[in-house]
Amino acid sequence: MNKKAIITSALPYANGEIHLGHVASTYLPADVTTRFLKQNGVEAYYVCASDDFGTPILIQSEKEGKTPVDYVTHWNKRDYEDFSAFDIGFDYFYKTSSSENIAFVQDVFKKLNNAGHIYEKEIIQFYCNNDKKFLPDRYVKGVCPNCNAEDQYSDLCESCGRVPEEIINPKCSLCNQSPTKEKTTHYFFKLKNFATSLSEWLDGNDNLQKDVKKYVQNWIKSGLIDWDITRDIPWGVPIPLDNADGKVFYGWFDNHLAYISTAIKFLNDKGIDGKEFWNSADIYHFIGKDIVYHHYLFLPAMRLGIDKEFKLPDFIPTRGHLTLQAKKISKSRNWYIGLKQFLEYYPSDYLRFYLVSINPYSQDDLNFDWDDFTTRINSELIGNLGNFVNRALGFTKKAFDGEIPESESFDEKDTEAEEKIKSFASVVGDLMEQNHLDRALKKIMEFSSFFNQYFQHKEPWKKGPGTANCVYLSVNAVRSISIAIFAFMPKSAQKIWNQLGLDGTVEELSWNELSELQISSGHVLGDASPLFTRIETSDIEKYKKQLGPAE
Ligand code: MF3
Ligand code: ZN
Repeated sequence: MNKKAIITSALPYANGEIHLGHVASTYLPADVTTRFLKQNGVEAYYVCASDDFGTPILIQSEKEGKTPVDYVTHWNKRDYEDFSAFDIGFDYFYKTSSSENIAFVQDVFKKLNNAGHIYEKEIIQFYCNNDKKFLPDRYVKGVCPNCNAEDQYSDLCESCGRVPEEIINPKCSLCNQSPTKEKTTHYFFKLKNFATSLSEWLDGNDNLQKDVKKYVQNWIKSGLIDWDITRDIPWGVPIPLDNADGKVFYGWFDNHLAYISTAIKFLNDKGIDGKEFWNSADIYHFIGKDIVYHHYLFLPAMRLGIDKEFKLPDFIPTRGHLTLQAKKISKSRNWYIGLKQFLEYYPSDYLRFYLVSINPYSQDDLNFDWDDFTTRINSELIGNLGNFVNRALGFTKKAFDGEIPESESFDEKDTEAEEKIKSFASVVGDLMEQNHLDRALKKIMEFSSFFNQYFQHKEPWKKGPGTANCVYLSVNAVRSISIAIFAFMPKSAQKIWNQLGLDGTVEELSWNELSELQISSGHVLGDASPLFTRIETSDIEKYKKQLGPAE
């Protein structure tokens, strides 16, 4: 394991609240991974930023009568609060509109330009005579030329998923009048230059998911298209050329550069050489599958274009989308659950447990289902894990006044239980290292289930021989669980730690210590109280009704 790591997750647009779909595929897996790396002694930093530029944000701020700066400042703050309430432990949360990022983006552009990777081209753009502005992307609506769906944006048809070559019957989305066509000069990034080097990079990186690599390689084979990186709007990183007044970079040119500029700013402020750290660390970019194109092509190509001054990613964990009650999440139809809202219903650990459980390391979509959520929390988290912790600690309190008794020689079952503890760190850790967070969590549940059975089998309440061993091993198993679940459910992990009467925070323990039996006779437990509260199905029925109208 590399002893340094920088972890990022897809930057959230500063344009509306974070919902369950966002956290499931990127922020939560990235957070769990970062916590695990830190437990393994890796100097790991999780950095993120709000994605502030782009046409949709400009339009929305205009609609709300706010300046774009005020608008994105609002969402930057709100997003950070929501993430924090969900225990997403960013080491630093910044913004793509920072002065550092703007300077960095302009510098990268100049280097790409000097290296011959940029060219100018005159293109035809829609222009609104009424609003006196060029109309890129979402400023134009019309009929999709591919599937004839009406009322689609010119940069993406939500009905067929394709990018229209030229939208039919275009209308300005601000005033609804028909736009005219005007000439404008745009800058293009020569993505075509990188076909071979991208392909070689993909081939040579075994940490990337095979299936994703395969279809990205197919895109490369079928021919890459040069990339228009210019927008004629007043909100973005200004293009640093004399004849480019009024032009800014396309949001996807600048946003991913904030991974680097944010990390560098954070590290330099800490007194660490940011660039040096970046280039010697493992780089992880956690993303959802909708932005594969950007992260497997644009982003690496731009880093290749500046001679790998900043190293390319080692891992790009790519996961599927969350559906809600088996239907596509849609904010406009109110078919979504805001993160803030959810955390008013249930503790963050319930959601973290559930979302990791249903989320494989693959591009398969995952589904949030209220009934499934209820079952998994009530019968697995509470019925299995919570139950074992309460039983083991509760019994020790009652029968031994909370003091661990002297153990005796082990019988076969005891030895098996001891072996489980000793192999636990590697059984779970191996899966974590392979990004299989869901399977790792499952192993933890199996461990807990094993100990429930062990406890049941030993019948310590009968106070027969072997009772002391059962208490000793069970309490140590609870300690192991506390350390093992920390990355997944940090709050519950700490609660268990306190109930065990152990000092400090569980966060300080290193991963491998979870396989040590450090609690010995004479140790006195802290106060015990139930860890979790069951979910009431009547509440769930209420929450279901708060979703929007079914289609
Ligand atoms: N804001 C983009 C989205 O939500 C993701 C940007 S990730 C970055 O799709 F790397 F490009 F910044
Ligand atoms: Zn279409």
